[in-house]
Amino acid sequence: MTDTTTIDSATFRRVLGHYPTGVCVVTAADPRGAPIGMAIGSFTSVSLEPPLVAFFPDKRSSSWPRIEETGKFCVNVLASDQQELCRQFAMRGGDKFAGVSHRLSTNGSPILDDVIAWIDCDLYAVHEAGDHFIALGVVVELEVHRPGGPLLFLQGAYGEFNLLG
Ligand SMILES: Cc1cc2nc3c(=O)[nH]c(=O)nc-3n(C[C@H](O)[C@H](O)[C@H](O)COP(=O)(O)O)c2cc1C
Repeated sequence: MTDTTTIDSATFRRVLGHYPTGVCVVTAADPRGAPIGMAIGSFTSVSLEPPLVAFFPDKRSSSWPRIEETGKFCVNVLASDQQELCRQFAMRGGDKFAGVSHRLSTNGSPILDDVIAWIDCDLYAVHEAGDHFIALGVVVELEVHRPGGPLLFLQGAYGEFNLLG
């Protein structure tokens, strides 16, 4: 294995920050019905057969263990006009769902109003990966909710997608 200790964290963050990501809010509802959510930039599709998606929760996250316990989650793809929602769900602690209207999916996870798309999943596997986990979900239902551009994140700033040409 490569000796990773020679890479300083500032360089790692700066260089990797040049790779853009979308932004979503991963949600779940605990057994008492309390909604849980966290902003995620590491969401990606993984496999078609079976239909798998993944994201990488930080081991320091307080929301992730609660989501993991439910055994399911919903990925809410944020629109470019939902930056505030992203900030709210990136908070540590506090009532992240204050003023956030949503409904529950058939699987029981919150679908936030006005997201671009949602992908509802059962938890498929969790792997350790350094200071993060790799959380894999098998998709049970999904939908494009409204047309529009997704919220993007690059070099610590938010933006939106412009088609070339
Ligand atoms: C644009 C953006 C992308 C993020 N991506 C991730 C991610 O991929 N994984 C993660 O664990 N946290 C990510 N975060 C941070 C979490 O949203 C935040 O640490 C978490 O919600 C903290 O609250 P918690 O303790 O309730 O989990 C991201 C935050 C922002 C603003």
